[in-house]
Amino acid sequence: MPKNDLFIRACRGEKTPMTPIWLMRQAGRCLPDYRKIRQKKSLVTICKDPELASEVTLLPVDMLGVDAAICFSDIMLPLEAMGVGFELKDSIGPVIRKAIKNIGDVKRLKSIDPKSDMDFVMDTVRITKKRSSVPIIGLAGAPFTMASYMIEGSYNKNFTKTKSMMYNDPKGWELLMKKLTEMTIAYLKEQIRSGADAVQLFDSWVGCLGPSDYQDFVLPYTKKIFAGIKGSSPTIHFTTGTSSFLELVKSAGSDVVSVDWRIGLDEARSRIGQTTPIQGNLDPGILLGTKATIRSSSLKIIEQAGARGGHIFNLGHGILPGTELEKVKWLVDTVHQSTR
Ligand code: CP3
Repeated sequence: MPKNDLFIRACRGEKTPMTPIWLMRQAGRCLPDYRKIRQKKSLVTICKDPELASEVTLLPVDMLGVDAAICFSDIMLPLEAMGVGFELKDSIGPVIRKAIKNIGDVKRLKSIDPKSDMDFVMDTVRITKKRSSVPIIGLAGAPFTMASYMIEGSYNKNFTKTKSMMYNDPKGWELLMKKLTEMTIAYLKEQIRSGADAVQLFDSWVGCLGPSDYQDFVLPYTKKIFAGIKGSSPTIHFTTGTSSFLELVKSAGSDVVSVDWRIGLDEARSRIGQTTPIQGNLDPGILLGTKATIRSSSLKIIEQAGARGGHIFNLGHGILPGTELEKVKWLVDTVHQSTR
């Protein structure tokens, strides 16, 4: 066990002497040391260099004093081994070279062996684990969010091609979701085997669906993933824009439910059960405001989380470009000092 186990204890629903905090995109945003490394190397190059990736993973632990380190990798990385080429373009995000168009393309996707195909991620986890004073979080993209990039070719806020395949080619959709589900289970299991103390499944874009489509087209697969990786390392389910069907998100079966700022933590807890460990939920935009605003907004969240424990403080989504390091430090200190 790492020296600081606040995060893991909160994931198990325990009451902790201080509320743990870590932040989505805590490594790859706002840190001048990271920007310096990025001037010379691409994101994928950093991810494929376990020594360097481990260094970047641990930067926010030293600089910010957060209670967990998220492995420096990207949800897109396994696509290459599946035969889907991509690029991570600055300020755009992932761009797929040849998007998936039909069931024929889905059939051609290769199944991967995470141990050998994703060995650089496993090495990063292993190296970081040895050096870290805090728990290390492994990660993967959830099938819907991965499928949306593979089908659209890049982020498209209307998800037109994705929805079109979902409704017009149910067999193609089912096969794609099945293949991604299988890959994700193997990938996360291997990260846990390599030493990940917890894993987070990112379904960043699933909030574009309504409750009944979520239930029909997505939930069966995420359920399968959480059932398939259940064990000693806690699991976190991250989504955004899903507060209207939070009960369904909870039913996917993760240990911790991550919620965004579109719902109060008190209301979220009353809907998913007071004892369900919860992560969240500051609006990342608040970090662009004054220190006074950051303080009052975080105190409100801490109050809404209540006194029963099982709360991991986080943002509802990743740190935004342009966020000042000093404000992020202020947030971490505020959460620690006010809950001690
Ligand atoms: O703290 C960290 O940064 C941890 C490492 C991490 C990255 N991506 C590296 C990265 C994690 C956990 C991710 C997850 C990820 N990647 C998600 C899920 C979380 C979310 O934000 O919704 C998604 C959807 C992706 C795909 C992706 N990669 C996008 C949309 C972008 C560009 C958008 C942006 O924020 O700039 C990327 C590029 C990327 N991956 C960056 C980082 C640090 C951007 C900065 C850089 O290029 O160095």
